[in-house]
Amino acid sequence: MKIVVVGASGMMGAKIVRTLERGGEDVVEASSKLGVNALSGEGLEAAFEGADVVIDVTNSGSFGEGDALAFFKQAGKQMLSSAKAAGVRHYLALSVVGADNLVENDYFRAKLVQENLVRASGLAHTIVRSTQFFEFFSGIVNTSVLDGNLRLPDLRLQPIAADEAATFMANIATAEPRNSIVELGGPEPTELVELARELLTVTEDNRPVAIDPASLYFGVSLARQGLLPNPGVVSGKLTFHDWLTRTVYG
Ligand SMILES: NC(=O)c1ccc[n+]([C@@H]2O[C@H](COP(=O)([O-])OP(=O)(O)OC[C@H]3O[C@@H](n4cnc5c(N)ncnc54)[C@H](OP(=O)(O)O)[C@@H]3O)[C@@H](O)[C@H]2O)c1
Repeated sequence: MKIVVVGASGMMGAKIVRTLERGGEDVVEASSKLGVNALSGEGLEAAFEGADVVIDVTNSGSFGEGDALAFFKQAGKQMLSSAKAAGVRHYLALSVVGADNLVENDYFRAKLVQENLVRASGLAHTIVRSTQFFEFFSGIVNTSVLDGNLRLPDLRLQPIAADEAATFMANIATAEPRNSIVELGGPEPTELVELARELLTVTEDNRPVAIDPASLYFGVSLARQGLLPNPGVVSGKLTFHDWLTRTVYG
């Protein structure tokens, strides 16, 4: 099966490429630095020629006002029309669990626009929504610093190791298109504040951490369950605790 990964040099793309190659698939790696530009369209036709599957794991390089929206709109349109022209049988896009609860944030609104473009394209597709990757956790925690203290929103999360999410993406890519949303999540829903405490402990960071109901998640006020996948969605097996221990202590 010929599978094109657009965003192959990125954090997720590189993991998906490795997994697919280990499974014996014929993988084409695409990204702007590899001569395939999803915004201008340069190189897309050649990259998609004869492809069975296209996986979109691109990301906006800048996060200023309107940037992500402009990126996912333009890149989505270019890739979908090139995929259609090439007769691609399955188009996969990676989105975010809870994006519809985060529309006040520019980036997450852009992810919903990306999803809508895929749905409206007429292509056989699967939209994969993943929860937060463990790898980005310190970024999430550090957006809530006030006077040197971590003041976190009262949220439950079900994050997943990026390696496990990549394995699921590879499996979905080689299966039949679902023409719907598939959610991925880690092994267990956990309090954000507990995850933050674990992270601070192993990184020997002694900043005080507490729940602050007024604190926002990337500028958005959310219900406690607003970032959880649907009940019963359990994909990853690795817990944040085990991943953290492995990552920090080897
Ligand atoms: N972080 C999370 O917890 C999470 C959870 C769920 C879903 N996601 C989604 O996963 C996706 C991938 O995220 P990531 O963290 O792996 O991204 P990343 O590491 O920033 O990688 C982005 C990739 O996109 C490519 N790219 C950027 N502009 C391009 C263009 N104009 N044309 C072609 N390729 C382009 C980059 O390659 P070049 O540098 O060569 O252009 C790179 O390969 C994102 O859409 C994100 O929303 C993330």
